[in-house]
Amino acid sequence: MTSMYPGYFISFEGIDGAGKSTHIEAFQKLMQERYPNREVVMTREPGGTPLGEQLRGLLLDAPMNLETEALLMFAARREHIAQVIEPALMAGKIVISDRFTDSSFAYQGGGRGLSIDKLNDLEQWVQGRSNGLLQPNLTILFDLPGEVAEARRSKVRAPDKFEKMDLNFFEKVRQEYLRRAKEDPKRFHMVDATQTPEAIWNGLKNLEFSI
Ligand code: TYD
Repeated sequence: MTSMYPGYFISFEGIDGAGKSTHIEAFQKLMQERYPNREVVMTREPGGTPLGEQLRGLLLDAPMNLETEALLMFAARREHIAQVIEPALMAGKIVISDRFTDSSFAYQGGGRGLSIDKLNDLEQWVQGRSNGLLQPNLTILFDLPGEVAEARRSKVRAPDKFEKMDLNFFEKVRQEYLRRAKEDPKRFHMVDATQTPEAIWNGLKNLEFSI
């Protein structure tokens, strides 16, 4: 994407248990050191605004119809873009988001089976601008097989609604991530998340991109 804004937008993506949370804060610090004159804004989805955080509570706990779930994800995202992401990018800031629209394609589309056409429509609706689609400039995708992620998850935390899903669900989530990455290879940086945390961090530290 040619830059639509003076800022720079980075998203972190991956199936639950891939290890992205381990690295995202350190990555924020790294960006701040590398670009001392730019403000780095850390945020997350679903969430990132007071309304979005309330929606997150519902989305991660309450069972709901699949289309309701997708619409609420995009409603939270619309608010997030309006209140946080777009103003920051217009002001030249670096925005790092723990998940963005690729998660909706992967989880609601790949995992739960919502039609990709409907997701494309929602993406256009919420992210369409006169000069293109508001997308991350860079998406760091932590990729690993569903069963490795499952084994990691079971060690660390009480599962939310999505984390309770079975292996087949996560394999489908993974495949949709990979399809999105193939469709837009310039935007994606793939991380082989089966590596040790040290090896992953080494790769991230040396990742080259121009802001
Ligand atoms: P996650 O970001 O992994 O947070 P935590 O580390 O606290 O568990 O959890 C958010 C969950 O929401 C994750 O299971 C993926 C899901 N999700 C969707 O299903 N669709 C979306 O559009 C987004 C942003 C997240």
